[in-house]
Amino acid sequence: MENGAAQPVIVAIDGPSGTGKSSTSKAVAAQLGLSYLDTGAQYRAITWWMVTSGIDIEDPTAIAAVAGKPEIVSGTDPLDPTISVDGTDVAAAIRTQEVTSQVSAVSAVPEVRSRITELQRSLAAAAEQGIVVEGRDIGTTVLPDADLKVFLTASAEARAARRSGELKGADVAATREALIKRDAADSSRKTSPLAKADDAVEVDTTELTLAQVIECVVTLVEEKRAGK
Ligand code: DC
Repeated sequence: MENGAAQPVIVAIDGPSGTGKSSTSKAVAAQLGLSYLDTGAQYRAITWWMVTSGIDIEDPTAIAAVAGKPEIVSGTDPLDPTISVDGTDVAAAIRTQEVTSQVSAVSAVPEVRSRITELQRSLAAAAEQGIVVEGRDIGTTVLPDADLKVFLTASAEARAARRSGELKGADVAATREALIKRDAADSSRKTSPLAKADDAVEVDTTELTLAQVIECVVTLVEEKRAGK
């Protein structure tokens, strides 16, 4: 394709927790000179705001009523992704166990999803070179016209082992249970659940190194840009 490299390219990377989505997406974006968006961080940020504002997480109506209030800003440089809420840097605060255990409930509320989806679409539209967007519903709902959709999977054991490593020696069995519970909640919610788009390329990362997954996705993007 003539001038293919100059076309903005939109890449959607979905899958459950612990499949290497973030590491892969960041590295692919950095290698190809694209922007990067971690949509899980946005759902974690709005959850952090709900928790610190004293909103009852068990009450979807209360969550829906204030879903438009916090101002969530994502920096999309893959070498320095940032996330803030009302001007406060929450990059560390959104990774606590408290936020992780509440995020599925908050992100299941339709008003939260429509608010965050709007932000995601405007960031994707503003990315001049293109963007890698990682999440759960990017290929199915947020960016259904993405140039490339990838769905990463891995066995529950591999995912729990990776997450435990990231959490510096956390108990693998407990991490596995928590992951399975969160994935079940994310996959069974009514509004845009975790799902593979029909036209997504599925990559099982169980037996692959991170470098191999990155190489695989970079190759898929380059093939798309070259018009196959
Ligand atoms: O990728 P992560 O583990 O940081 O995501 C945290 C939670 O956010 C995840 O359990 C479900 C929710 N999420 C979502 O509902 N839709 C997305 N596109 C991304 C994340």
